[in-house]
Amino acid sequence: MKRIAIYPGSFDPITLGHVDIISRALPLFDELYICISNSSKKTYLFSLEERKQLLIDNFSDTKKVKTMVNAGLTVDAARSVDAKFIVRGIRTNMDAEYEKSMDVMNKALNNDIETIFLFANPTLSSISSSLVKEVALLKGDVSSFVPKNVAQALKTKMG
Ligand code: COA
Repeated sequence: MKRIAIYPGSFDPITLGHVDIISRALPLFDELYICISNSSKKTYLFSLEERKQLLIDNFSDTKKVKTMVNAGLTVDAARSVDAKFIVRGIRTNMDAEYEKSMDVMNKALNNDIETIFLFANPTLSSISSSLVKEVALLKGDVSSFVPKNVAQALKTKMG
């Protein structure tokens, strides 16, 4: 049986922190679906489709990586692609608390799906999509925090 996982997140936009988690999750699974989702707590700069395209541009050569867009529950997105695992990255204690409550809720919704946590690479753990957007808005250099295509897309978006 194939080991299929989904890596859900906002990816608004994808950063090198996300790229690191994806690269380290890949050897663990046969297929990894990057699942672009909306959190009810956030407003987004890039549309779901724009976020998806920015991801595809980075992973089109990696066969194991697939992308999907999800407007519903993460556990339902997982079930729709036969994924038995959810991958999440943890940067800080605050992330860990948040992840714990999501894990409990996801288990209550579907107990067949296990979440696997990877600690963020310490050199990347202070990156967040929000900080990157703030730096880009103020015309700062974001090239050491995001893939090249994202840096370009941010430049275009911010004008
Ligand atoms: N390195 C650096 N930064 C990282 C990182 C890493 N390894 N992993 C995450 N981040 C950053 C992101 O850039 C993001 O920054 P931001 O808050 O400034 O945007 C932040 O950490 C967390 O983002 P992300 O991992 O994308 O999660 P999220 O909180 O935006 O989204 C969902 C969480 C989408 C997975 C969750 O809301 C969800 O599952 N929604 C679907 C509906 C659902 O099922 N709800 C019930 C869930 S219990």
